[in-house]
Amino acid sequence: VFTPRVFSGIKPSGGLTLGNYLGAIKRFVDMQGSDFETIYCVVDMHAVTVWQDPADLRHATREVAAGYLAAGIDPEKSILFNQARVSAHAELGWLFNCVARVGWMNRMTQFKDKAGENAEGVSLGLYAYPSLMAADILLYHATHVPVGEDQKQHVELTRDIANKFNHDYKTDFFPQTEPVIEGPAMRVMNLRDGTKKMSKSGESDMERINMTDDADTIAKKFKKAKSDAEPLPETLEGLTDRPEARNLVNIYAALSDMTNAQVIAEYAGAGWGRFKPALADLAVEKLAPVSGEMARLMADPAEIDRLMARGAERANEIAQPILAKTFDIMGF
Ligand code: ADP
Ligand code: NA
Repeated sequence: VFTPRVFSGIKPSGGLTLGNYLGAIKRFVDMQGSDFETIYCVVDMHAVTVWQDPADLRHATREVAAGYLAAGIDPEKSILFNQARVSAHAELGWLFNCVARVGWMNRMTQFKDKAGENAEGVSLGLYAYPSLMAADILLYHATHVPVGEDQKQHVELTRDIANKFNHDYKTDFFPQTEPVIEGPAMRVMNLRDGTKKMSKSGESDMERINMTDDADTIAKKFKKAKSDAEPLPETLEGLTDRPEARNLVNIYAALSDMTNAQVIAEYAGAGWGRFKPALADLAVEKLAPVSGEMARLMADPAEIDRLMARGAERANEIAQPILAKTFDIMGF
């Protein structure tokens, strides 16, 4: 039996978005202090699968750490650390490159989306990154991984890698990790195109809410967000085939800890001229304390680095024996 343990991470590949907050960080905070041990990582080695300017990477790494802390991750209750500071991630990642099959990687839809027409010109790391992600998770024998919907296929691949390893080496060393994908915010969409997810690396700043946006910027972005000509429906079914409307309702529900049905009940028949300002006010109310705290933390980078170094020591204490046992099982 495996200790109930949560692992998850965020890439420091740009500023944090409302998608990261609602789909990841807020849920990570909720799982803290539950029956799980919680381990949260700034997955900096994933960020460099695409080019990162070194100074930007250093800044974004601290900013993701500040986002976690400001939102309520307690570095005493959870283990919070940078992936690159625990070298066992890279080591187990290599071993898993030798377990995973090329055909499995070829089925990863996120790679196809990210590489686009240029599949020959992207880094080998971008192609292999789901195998490193499996290592991130299995290095702690994590039983549960809270993620947004975009990561579901990668958690399934993690299970495939654990299964193949266990089968090939006739062991039950690695657990079958469960993805935890639930709530209205598992897929926050881009504000300008309701068919694409909101992402830190999206093209235009208007398509996403950054956690550090000020109140005026948040209001302006929601005002300009793509919607449609209809008022909000009277029932949930009325959101079918209305991706932009559904997204704005999802965001409202996630921010307020309401269900979509409750939001619809409150705003049935309301026009966008009423709903969008209410949504903007709610987002400002929830994000302003977090972004204020992030700014305070970012003013003292040495303190962030100190907390993260302590977290890396604690992460190592779990990771090292699991890596050592993996080497042993494989015959090293
Ligand atoms: P990004 O796509 O913004 O670069 P990451 O790949 O670092 O984000 O993902 C970090 C976590 O945030 C993952 O659990 C991911 O599923 C979640 N996440 C990212 N974007 C969204 C979104 N638009 N909606 C819900 N969850 C998201
Ligand atoms: Na992502």
